Amino acid sequence: MSGVGERLVRNGYRVVFRSVFANMDPERAHHIAFAVIRWLPRVPFLASTVERYSRPAAADGITTMGIHFPSRFGLAAGFDKDAHGIAGLGLLGFGHVEVGTITAKPQPGNEKPRLFRLVGDRALINRMGFNNRGAAAAARRLERARRNPGRPVIGVNIGKSRVVDVADAVEDYLESTRLLAPFADYLAVNVSSPNTPGLRGLQELDQLRPLLTAVRDAAGKTPVLVKIAPDLDDAQIDAIAGLAVDLGLAGVIANNTTIARTGLSASAESVAQIGAGGLSGAPIAERSLDVLRRVRAVVPADFCVVAVGGVTSEADVQARLDAGATLVQGYTAFLYEGPTWATRINRLRRRRLRREARESR
Ligand code: FNR
Repeated sequence: MSGVGERLVRNGYRVVFRSVFANMDPERAHHIAFAVIRWLPRVPFLASTVERYSRPAAADGITTMGIHFPSRFGLAAGFDKDAHGIAGLGLLGFGHVEVGTITAKPQPGNEKPRLFRLVGDRALINRMGFNNRGAAAAARRLERARRNPGRPVIGVNIGKSRVVDVADAVEDYLESTRLLAPFADYLAVNVSSPNTPGLRGLQELDQLRPLLTAVRDAAGKTPVLVKIAPDLDDAQIDAIAGLAVDLGLAGVIANNTTIARTGLSASAESVAQIGAGGLSGAPIAERSLDVLRRVRAVVPADFCVVAVGGVTSEADVQARLDAGATLVQGYTAFLYEGPTWATRINRLRRRRLRREARESR
């Protein structure tokens, strides 16, 4: 989209956000926005126009884990839980889309309300609890989505079914792996969501090693990454990054939402009223950068590290690349910035890459 068209849509979205979405339950607003995104590919003229303007610069592409990513920037897990909107999200300019978290068994997630905005902080708190229709249903949709030649790279994020005991987690993750790995460009093993009891305990090395080994073996040629929490201490981050390398995994995704509540301008009372859940968005940017640097210091240069947490602007994307990220993802800012978010980042990256190419001549 030209700068002018993009600004028009962005300003229009701001008005809609302030006057409509902000007064609505955030999960309901998400479903409405997502319905529009899913509808986009069905209107060929609109789809081709949007695609023309949102497309990333070819020079921003990268090959990692044996996959060519059309750009460094993609959509983090949690937005498209059930792999319903991959084509539309690709049209909006995301170079990759990580769907999920998908669990082996379909499940409704936690009781509503379970998604909360902290508008002044550009943040969200969620305790969705892996609401999804299960791995078998997702596999059918992914099979169809893969046939679309213009599709983005598809990551599939898997987690533990709530009804399954932590002691039986390996078999549960394996069920999802067998069903989904054939249709995923990469698999992300989520052991870091704060909203499934016991899940983050799987980050303990004695539990993580057998889990990741089993998923890696069952995934065949599909690269496997592990997604970690920002609430780990330095020694735990080092140990997990080291384990990922030892096991021959393809990468680490750093990081998920935090259970911390620091750096917020919202009153402690209003935050306490929201209750449990994972915090995401601008307030976690600094911590996520620290975790990224920590992981990068442990793993080899060609090991894929996906940076996620608090990314809003193209400068944020560049800061993560400078700190050693191979790929960068975001979610929360999509809600605040609107549908032209990835387009804008792609446009500014194109400009930056051109400038750098000129200067290096
Ligand atoms: C998430 N995130 C997430 N991560 C994951 O691995 N599986 C999931 O199902 C979800 N679900 C989810 C729901 C909602 C509403 C949000 C806001 C986030 C975490 C997400 O992928 C990302 O790691 C964090 O949100 C940090 O990035 P941002 O949002 O600060 O860019």
